[in-house]
Amino acid sequence: MDRTLTSAAGALPRHIAIIMDGNGRWAQRRHLPRIAGHRAGTQSVKSAVRNCAEKGVDALTLFAFSSENWSRPAQEVTQLMELFLSALQNEIQELHQSHVRLEFIGARDAFSEKLQQQMREAEQLTAANPGLHLNIAANYGGQWDILQAAQQLALRVEQGTLRASQIDRALLESCLCLSALPAVDLFIRTGGEQRISNFLLWQIAYTELYFTETLWPDFDASALQAALDAYATRQRRFGGLTVAHQAQA
Ligand code: IPE
Ligand code: IPE
Ligand code: MG
Repeated sequence: MDRTLTSAAGALPRHIAIIMDGNGRWAQRRHLPRIAGHRAGTQSVKSAVRNCAEKGVDALTLFAFSSENWSRPAQEVTQLMELFLSALQNEIQELHQSHVRLEFIGARDAFSEKLQQQMREAEQLTAANPGLHLNIAANYGGQWDILQAAQQLALRVEQGTLRASQIDRALLESCLCLSALPAVDLFIRTGGEQRISNFLLWQIAYTELYFTETLWPDFDASALQAALDAYATRQRRFGGLTVAHQAQA
């Protein structure tokens, strides 16, 4: 992950991560079952992907299912799994034609063999695409991510190919999900809650955070633009000083 010591003024984020929250409440307000909100949310996914690709954003990481979402009622979990499978089947060709490179992050072995196979095929089909890098976080947790990185490193120490003293920030980071991509510049959470809910943890150390009341199914092009406009006004300092602050010293 590279970092530039500048303000974000006028800049487009290279990598956006979104907690797509509020589907259930969107449905509840319409006296519909929660799954109707999740279905409506897939339209917002399509719109966000299209808009990010058109604007030239490098990477978009979407939180689709957290490692804690298994604790929802069994019926909702089953319906969500069915929705993931059908959305993947319906959208993969269009994503491919739009040059999107699709990847999944998370502990995928918890999913059905059929879904895992679809995920693998989608990744293989789009692996060489030059367009938007779209990451879907499924059965992902920020704590799981750090844990699996620690296990990778511990294994290498156990095998004698790495000394504990050689473990530094860059090496640990290289074992985490998304390490091959630009740093996450902008984090968006829809649905009004102001928390991370075990999404990216290490990766958002210096990310700009943006929270909106807009429910995910209502998150359209203008809602995305509002987030981008807010980002463009932020002063990013990464612990240092901006040019203006340095001049003042
Ligand atoms: C987010 O919407 C989607 C998933 C977690 C899969 P929610 O289902 O959490 O919607 P609310 O928060 O109940 O409105
Ligand atoms: C976070 O939303 C997970 C996803 C959007 C996939 P939740 O709705 O699960 O988060 P909490 O439970 O409100 O923290
Ligand atoms: Mg929620």
